[in-house]
Amino acid sequence: MIDLTRLQKVSGIIGTSNRIRQVLEMINQVSDVDISVLITGESGTGKEVVAKAIHKNSKRSKSSLVIVNCGAIPEGIIESELFGHKKGSFTGASQDRKGYFEEANFGTIFLDEIGETPLETQVKLLRVLENGEFMRVGEARTRKTDVRIIAATNKNLDTLVKKNHFREDLYYRLNTVNIDLPALRNRVEDIGSFVERFALEFTRSNDIRYRGFLPDAVRTLKQYDWPGNIRELKHFVEKILVLERGERITSEMVQKEMSKVYNTEGISNSLPVIVNNESNKAEIDLMLRQLFLLKQDTEIIQKLLVGRSIPTNHSENNLTNLNTLDQNISLPKKSMEIIEDGFRYIRDDAIGDISIKDLEEEVISRTLRFFNNNRRKTARSLGMSERTLYRKIEEFGLEPKINRSK
Ligand SMILES: Nc1ncnc2c1ncn2[C@@H]1O[C@H](COP(=O)(O)OP(=O)(O)OP(=O)(O)O)[C@@H](O)[C@H]1O
Ligand SMILES: [Mg+2]
Repeated sequence: MIDLTRLQKVSGIIGTSNRIRQVLEMINQVSDVDISVLITGESGTGKEVVAKAIHKNSKRSKSSLVIVNCGAIPEGIIESELFGHKKGSFTGASQDRKGYFEEANFGTIFLDEIGETPLETQVKLLRVLENGEFMRVGEARTRKTDVRIIAATNKNLDTLVKKNHFREDLYYRLNTVNIDLPALRNRVEDIGSFVERFALEFTRSNDIRYRGFLPDAVRTLKQYDWPGNIRELKHFVEKILVLERGERITSEMVQKEMSKVYNTEGISNSLPVIVNNESNKAEIDLMLRQLFLLKQDTEIIQKLLVGRSIPTNHSENNLTNLNTLDQNISLPKKSMEIIEDGFRYIRDDAIGDISIKDLEEEVISRTLRFFNNNRRKTARSLGMSERTLYRKIEEFGLEPKINRSK
């Protein structure tokens, strides 16, 4: 029986959901074995927290854990940073320098955002992964290092491999063990504990009186989609505690803050504020249904008009006056009729003047907003390729309107 509670205490990993228990069990299983681990998961799901937990729980814990953000190092110097360089090997190399792999000797190296590593560097990573061998830039001598490698990414490496942006052999080598972290929206039962922990930590260190979150407030938090996951929740909790200083946090306060997050400039207030998978889907479904209704209406009008050979151009006018048409033609659904000023109209304004193009633009921009401008997720959710999405974004001029700070 593994002591997950102890592991949680040591690592600071919160949660009791099944998903996080599985993660903890995996951490426990792999920590002590010198096997490389690939941690995947959306931004803010705790990849770094897990990498630290593995190191801390391993027999290498007495040596250092070197954290390298591969996405943040310019391509030109990444090899010198990782493997070191020899004095004079390039302009600016004024002395010999150890790289991160040497620094991490006997310890662990955490290669964050591994998907951002240039292809040439990937070959060298594969070599060091396989036998610990590497060369400093500008040196011909092979050196050895004894490190355990943990890598992380929020990209889909499978896709990168297919696009030839990531080496397949390195991918398989790194992916020996994969710990996939759940998105917060898929473990909402943990939200309560997160809120409590973040609130306590924050109020304590900032000397703010903490009177708790009402259960309803937590329930409201659970409805939100949290595209930025745990990090976003943490910042949200901290922000609301500052704004509502000393108050007990209610659902209304939460809703008010959430609406601010989404209703930044340029975004209409009528757009939905609290979103989750269900409501977002429901909304798109609704639009599609409306589109369908419009199509039906159009067909009816066409039938009516063509049958009477009356010139058709109803699109110029949203409402078609039925009194001028054959009253005997029965309409299939009452809901499609509008009686106004004694006239009967066909309701073909179900979605106003919106054209298919407008509808498409609207759906794309809402979905982008929903996924916090994450184009990959937007494309996937809309069932279109990323390239098509890029083209549409250009076409509709949908450059990010929301610049939320992380
Ligand atoms: N299980 C957890 N328990 C407590 N805090 C957590 C947990 N997971 C994440 N956090 C907190 O959430 C924040 C984000 O975590 P972390 O930096 O590990 O995410 P990440 O997946 O590496 O994100 P990114 O992809 O953006 O780098 C941190 O403040 C971290 O302390
Ligand atoms: Mg990270």
